[in-house]
Amino acid sequence: MTKNTQNISRRSALKGAAILGTAAFIPAGVHGKDAKETNTVMDLTQDEKYWAEIAMDFDVTPDVINLENGYWGLMSRPVLEKYIANTRAVNRNNSYYARRGYKEDFPAILRRIERELGARRGEIVLTRNATEALQGLINGYDRLKPGEAVMYADLDYYSMIAAMDTLAARQSCEVVRLNIPEPVDYDGILEFYRAALADHPKVRLLLLTQIGHRTGLQIPVREITKMARAAGVDVIVDAAHSYGQLDVKIDDIGADFIGFNLHKWIGAPLGVGAMYIRENRLGDIAPNPSAAPSEKDGIEGRVHTGTTNFAAVMTIPDAFDYHARIGAGHKEARLRYLRDVWVEAVRDIENLRVLTGNDPRLHGGITSFRFDGKTSVAENKAIVERLLKDHGIFTVHRDGVANGACVRVTPSIYNSVDDVQQLARALRALSTQM
Ligand SMILES: Cc1ncc(COP(=O)(O)O)c(C=O)c1O
Repeated sequence: MTKNTQNISRRSALKGAAILGTAAFIPAGVHGKDAKETNTVMDLTQDEKYWAEIAMDFDVTPDVINLENGYWGLMSRPVLEKYIANTRAVNRNNSYYARRGYKEDFPAILRRIERELGARRGEIVLTRNATEALQGLINGYDRLKPGEAVMYADLDYYSMIAAMDTLAARQSCEVVRLNIPEPVDYDGILEFYRAALADHPKVRLLLLTQIGHRTGLQIPVREITKMARAAGVDVIVDAAHSYGQLDVKIDDIGADFIGFNLHKWIGAPLGVGAMYIRENRLGDIAPNPSAAPSEKDGIEGRVHTGTTNFAAVMTIPDAFDYHARIGAGHKEARLRYLRDVWVEAVRDIENLRVLTGNDPRLHGGITSFRFDGKTSVAENKAIVERLLKDHGIFTVHRDGVANGACVRVTPSIYNSVDDVQQLARALRALSTQM
């Protein structure tokens, strides 16, 4: 990237941040923003020139239109440059840095992560990804008694489901598996969890995924967690896909135990995530079996990673800086808008189901679709291949949904409206051949 490009992008991003101030964008009618502020955000959300300048900060393959940004998130160029510089420095200085300088640098990095997530000191430990965080929470959950039950849903992540099954078996507990209705509206999902909790009084631990990786459904985790707490049920929230895709912090999620990713939607280097345990709940998550005696009283004893990617950790503040320059609310609004553009354009296709509702409280940027009757993995893999071979659009199939497999579409902030309009045209063409 030329210096000029970087300056233009920075200028534009700062312009956006200045217009937005520190206020986060919250969809109109959801949290009651006044019309003037909402309009300003909407103007920027749909300002293609502005987003084209942001896109210049990302080095993206021209080989495909990548609408599969759910695996992990590209680093922007400024973050990538920092990561490369940090990698060089770590490699040059080896343990001379790792044993001395890193120890001095790390506390400030951790403070920054705590601040960004809205945590108090001692409530966050760094992990290599959301998996490590959530496995630590689920495997370590220490309050189940034989005969009690754990609960999760079909849309939760497969390895967290497996961890819940293992935990239940180890504690001689039952497993309650829910299938989230499809389609579902906001009140419907609340009622669904209310009834599930009422019908299963033995449940003591509930797994909730704020944005599901299978269909992109967003569920009201704060409200469900409140309900669960009232019923004496603890909640572990999988925020792997929601943090950074949505403008949320720990208080918005409301749970005592949360797993985060920083390499999906914050744009940090691969290999960084975080575990959150509310201050007064540390005792309910057992220390990691490898924790040293001195670590057992702190959250750092709930994860044992061993030697870590120092350069990736050192780059986290740069990723947060870039994220803040765009503005968390601004990013959320843009991702939602890109989703809305293609979804609206395919609404009238008779044999195509969009798997998240129009209510902005029920999705972020991710949304999956399914052609009627095409419920097998093989059929959905074939659709992904057709989109790639015939239209140059990269997506991914997802399985594990009770109603059948589907195809997931995940735009990033570097995608253009034209990218998602091309998807809509491709789906229209495909629909006649299904
Ligand atoms: C909902 C959800 N939870 C957890 C994970 C695991 O994330 P990671 O592989 O980065 O640990 C993913 C990954 O895609 C996910 O989508």
